Amino acid sequence: MERIIDGEKQLEDVFDKSIRPESLDEYVGQAKIKENLHVFMQAAKMRGEVLDHVLLYGPPGLGKTTLAHIIANEMGANIKTASGPSIEKSGDLAAILSTLEPGDVLFIDEIHRIPSFIEEILYPAMEDFEIDIVIGTEGKSKNIKIDLPPFTLVGATTRAGDLSSPLRDRFGIINKLEFYSDEELKDIILRTSHVLDMQIDDDAALELAKRSRKTPRVANRLFKRVRDFALVEGTGYIDLAITLKSLERLNVDKYGLDNIDIEYLKALINKFNGGPVGIETISTAIGEEITTIEDVVEPFLLQEGFIKRTNRGRVATELAYKHLGIDHYQGLFDMKG
Ligand SMILES: Nc1ncnc2c1ncn2[C@@H]1O[C@H](COP(=O)(O)OP(=O)(O)OP(=O)(O)O)[C@@H](O)[C@H]1O
Ligand SMILES: [Mg+2]
Repeated sequence: MERIIDGEKQLEDVFDKSIRPESLDEYVGQAKIKENLHVFMQAAKMRGEVLDHVLLYGPPGLGKTTLAHIIANEMGANIKTASGPSIEKSGDLAAILSTLEPGDVLFIDEIHRIPSFIEEILYPAMEDFEIDIVIGTEGKSKNIKIDLPPFTLVGATTRAGDLSSPLRDRFGIINKLEFYSDEELKDIILRTSHVLDMQIDDDAALELAKRSRKTPRVANRLFKRVRDFALVEGTGYIDLAITLKSLERLNVDKYGLDNIDIEYLKALINKFNGGPVGIETISTAIGEEITTIEDVVEPFLLQEGFIKRTNRGRVATELAYKHLGIDHYQGLFDMKG
């Protein structure tokens, strides 16, 4: 099911390089991360060294890939990119590493998905800029060491917990990206409006910001859909009226929850009496994959206080009952009846 507020990457993101900020100054929010990175990058430049390896983690669409490119830009470095799932054999990783040139940034997305036996190749690469590889076939094989030029590995993941500790420990700079405030999202929307040359009123931008799941990717995506409505059914620019109308047509409610969120909460409350219930059970009940639920749906519901995670499973909060207009005790009563 296509989902307007989905955190997942879609092709549009890939082709939409224009709305991606390219410098630290243009990158909205994440103030602490930006300040620190600025210092670390300055210091590395003053010493004439590469920046220490950087790990970026946090829910989808918060700007990890964007920040990786900014780091390369700010360091005046070339960026080479790879992604965890595409690295299947040790040779794949060795091949990528052997193309590195001095000062390069190597960006590995979804780094938690590199198989652990391959991950070990990264340890000496990160620590000593060298790799050990085995060449030849069994019986006649030998180990050789290859020197690598100094480089910076930037790893991104939505699941820092899935990273092995030896790998995690080799990153000198570890940053967790946080959800964005409404004001920050509004700034992002205004910037996108400027880049795409489509005017939006202030109150409309704030309304969109509030419905964006605290996520820049969602904000930009909503902006583009509202832009379509404004063009075809509105006045040609984005005002509050066309924004509210579009959001209704897109099934995005006043908290930014969409069909899947609502289905999730309804299942939790109506089928499982508000929990606690395990993720597998919810996944089956609403027909969504566990990874989608864990990476995309739940982080926002947790952040906003619609659900809680306990040892025994997920629990709906009072806020979830209220939002769905279900009486808490009525819910309990229905279950028994
Ligand atoms: N701080 C920011 N300021 C302005 N725009 C941003 C910011 N962060 C993200 N964006 C916008 O949101 C979009 C999604 O960001 P990005 O692709 O970097 O997310 P991500 O964290 O890498 O997501 P994923 O985990 O799915 O790979 C980008 O295209 C960019 O335009
Ligand atoms: Mg990314």
